[in-house]
Amino acid sequence: MSAKSERYREVAREIAAVLEGERNMTARMATISNILHHSFDHYFWTGFYLVDPKKPGELVIGPYQGSLGCLRIPIGKGVCGAAAAERRTIVVEDVHEFAGHIACDARSRSEIVAPVFDPSGALVGVFDVDSDRKAMFDEEDATGIEAILKDAIID
Ligand code: SME
Repeated sequence: MSAKSERYREVAREIAAVLEGERNMTARMATISNILHHSFDHYFWTGFYLVDPKKPGELVIGPYQGSLGCLRIPIGKGVCGAAAAERRTIVVEDVHEFAGHIACDARSRSEIVAPVFDPSGALVGVFDVDSDRKAMFDEEDATGIEAILKDAIID
């Protein structure tokens, strides 16, 4: 196993240990964002966009780490909106080449967005990680992030 995949496993264990006994989803998402953000050098912006129950066609900002994020993203727009609409993880090597990319911070160069589901399989939102360098995310990031989300999103 690569060093990066091994690191994702360690981080998953650390997140599980900190979250043990805590059921509040804001606390859980804030902790996931924080620990992941501070565990990997290639993470520049890290956080959740959540389906707004009052406006189901929009994602609204959730717990995050990094520079100021956009508050709302229409489902279907940008990388986050596409991942929500298609319910699949999207890796973008160069955000300048992704049609409709939403630049909340002009320094973002590559990105991974994974859909977030509750245990019943309903879409809760997305988890977005941006890097300020090109092509920083791959299949190992997708596998590591998806595993953490699957275990940590319990409501
Ligand atoms: N780049 C994202 C927008 C969110 S942020 O960069 C924090 C997108 O196109 O979905």
